[in-house]
Amino acid sequence: MTKPKILLARAVFPAIIESLSTRFDVATNQTDQVLTKSELIARLQGVDGALTTGSERIDSDLLVACPQLKVVANMAVGYNNFDLPAMTERGVQGTNTPDVLTDTTADFGFALMMATARRLTESEHFLRRGEWTKWRYDMFTGSDIHGATLGILGMGRIGQGIASRGAHGFGMEVIYHNRTRLDPATEARCRASYVSKAELLQRADHLVLVLPYSAESHHAIGAAELAQMKPTATLTNIARGGIVDDVALAAALKARTIAGAGLDVFEGEPAVLPDLLTLPNVVLTPHIASASGPTRMAMARLAADNLVSFFTEGRVLTPVNTVTSIVR
Ligand code: GLV
Repeated sequence: MTKPKILLARAVFPAIIESLSTRFDVATNQTDQVLTKSELIARLQGVDGALTTGSERIDSDLLVACPQLKVVANMAVGYNNFDLPAMTERGVQGTNTPDVLTDTTADFGFALMMATARRLTESEHFLRRGEWTKWRYDMFTGSDIHGATLGILGMGRIGQGIASRGAHGFGMEVIYHNRTRLDPATEARCRASYVSKAELLQRADHLVLVLPYSAESHHAIGAAELAQMKPTATLTNIARGGIVDDVALAAALKARTIAGAGLDVFEGEPAVLPDLLTLPNVVLTPHIASASGPTRMAMARLAADNLVSFFTEGRVLTPVNTVTSIVR
């Protein structure tokens, strides 16, 4: 029997390639060149399944041009690179990698928030520049985490992980806003109170964004929202670029209408708005919130297992759409 053909659209762990090669005819991209749309279409000709990352856009044009494609396994919990209605309409199954990255990503969100509040990178750059000549009473004074009010916008699994760390580990008061309010038991477990978006913006000492990107959440934090925040507040984004209006954020940071920002994601990344690079009160990281070694391996394994399960059992482990009709 001929093996199904799959494309691993980006570089992955060699062990994953090895294990997939026993079941599939595998094409790889270990040079990790990010494929343009036409390169991706060319590489997907005659291919049945693909392992992608957030960099590969799976849209209607691509699906029309790659009619053999049946399943796309994203190695990410977010899947805003999928045009989900188009995939569903054409009977293409999509999957993501939830749960395996929740704690690692929540840890990182907390670390980025703390680094921002306590001005870790700003003070490190000062030291590396050789400017540290003496102790001073007000040198790099930041804001406290313990006892502060933690605001969370987007209260899914990762948001809940950050809430629990704040409430139980640091004695923070946790407030959140989400499209739907959590059930009372989950709120109690996270010690989090539901508030309106306006109240969240106005009361949070440290606001963390953990909501999925969509047309609805595009620029959910723009000039008007930033203007409602406290001048001492920090903003941390570990969700997606585009949820924050980076131009408005850079202006707010420059004018110090908020104290600082921690950003792991950017509009148009890997490009970063030049203004953000020059501001001292922002901590910048290159989209690494889920990047612990074990978690990245778990994400790759889950994406690979989704492909195996699709072709051997006709179902997947972590679907992001329900495929009922196959249009080919
Ligand atoms: C990373 O951004 C992810 O969605 O997993």
